[in-house]
Amino acid sequence: MEIFHISAECYPMAKVGGLADVVGALPKYQNKAGHQVRVVVPCYDTKFKKDNEFEYVHWGEVKLGNFEFPFSVLKETTDKLGYKLYLIEIKELFDRPNVYGYEDDIERFLSFQIAALDWISGRETVPDIINCHDHHTGVIPFLVKYAYKYEKIKNVRTVITIHNGLYQGWFGFDKLHYLPQFDLIHVGFLEWNNAINSLAVGVKCAHAVTTVSPSYLNEINYAANGLEELFKVVRSKSKGILNGIDIDIWDPFTDKMLYENYTTETFRAGKQKNKEKLCEQFDLDPAKPLFSFIGRLFEEKGGDLLPQASALALSENFENINILILGSGNSEIESQLTQLRNDYIGNYNVFIGYNEELAHLIYAGSDFILMPSRVEPCGLNQMYALRYGTVPIVRRTGGLRDTVIDFGDDGNGICHDQASVGDICYSINRAVKLYGDKISFNTIIERGMRTDHSWETVCEEYIKIYNLIIQQNEV
Ligand code: GLC
Repeated sequence: MEIFHISAECYPMAKVGGLADVVGALPKYQNKAGHQVRVVVPCYDTKFKKDNEFEYVHWGEVKLGNFEFPFSVLKETTDKLGYKLYLIEIKELFDRPNVYGYEDDIERFLSFQIAALDWISGRETVPDIINCHDHHTGVIPFLVKYAYKYEKIKNVRTVITIHNGLYQGWFGFDKLHYLPQFDLIHVGFLEWNNAINSLAVGVKCAHAVTTVSPSYLNEINYAANGLEELFKVVRSKSKGILNGIDIDIWDPFTDKMLYENYTTETFRAGKQKNKEKLCEQFDLDPAKPLFSFIGRLFEEKGGDLLPQASALALSENFENINILILGSGNSEIESQLTQLRNDYIGNYNVFIGYNEELAHLIYAGSDFILMPSRVEPCGLNQMYALRYGTVPIVRRTGGLRDTVIDFGDDGNGICHDQASVGDICYSINRAVKLYGDKISFNTIIERGMRTDHSWETVCEEYIKIYNLIIQQNEV
């Protein structure tokens, strides 16, 4: 079948978080499974855009009320990513270095969605599936069904995949005229709490809703930033599908970003070598267990707990541990974490920023990875960590609950229930003990490394849903 994935992020073209990793991998495996897969993202001014070759395949103009933006569609020429990548170029709105965070984000992503559909609806063939991702593409299922100008594709089945339900892309009805014309009888599909809520629109109008883990699907019935009742209503067309990881990119045996490659047989020596290099780079002690955090420094990820938890853990353990943090986000958290450096020289360090290469090395060189998330729709870091032989320490929530089982229950990691400083430190203490018992520690590492989180099986789950909604009669 012909599948379009439409998203704000796709690795390696543009990455802010896990959304990019998923949209960069799932299509590849669907393509491998014999489907025709196309990924459509905005054309940001990124390194990937500069370093690669594209050809123009379409030109048009988006109308957003009285605004008019010329746009073009560019296709990556080599198809080396394993699927066809298309960029929607709207220079005025997207020729900027960042993906999000501009005042006109609503205008940007509405234009993106409209331009994508203008192009798709004008093509000779009608796709079988349009899979949208998060609120930036949430209006698409509505437009496909009801906008007059997309008549040709009005029966195309749409899916919305929710990677993060906290962000919803809402805007006022004063911007209703931005949307292409439709019969006003359908306006109710746009409304949630007296505003237009992009995510809610997608959830109401898509033929199927998927979340990125089964536990997250349960959680959004009682914690979804105001959309709880909606998620209950659409439960029968919803499914939680746990993300996979791209095992071509995330393989400690072939990863070029490591100092030493290793397998389930050679991980002891291999990880030690990477740890030594990492510790050298960050002035840490390779003889002590290394706890790392990689990710965005926000409350959602428990980032606000890290400064206090690190300080407490380091003092409680008489500086017998190392802590290394890689991330960026909230500036207050960033500065607290940076200040902590002066207090624990030789045992603690932080790198503020995003660095894909360093992330790979940290997975390989660490003993434990900390994920004290308050909300974690899936979480990919724990899966990367498991594959790299690093024991995840997680708060039981969302996808973390579905992938990490406490070693006390013969599992692959360490789990706690609260997103609190106390729970994190308690888990770190358990980890220090475990680290001292090399036989148990290595058994847990090996168990984790052998867990299969590849996309092949996951990708089938999506195809099953696509087939199901294609066979359904339109309601
Ligand atoms: C978002 C979620 C994260 C998930 C990722 C990919 O970033 O916060 O939990 O793993 O999307 O689906």
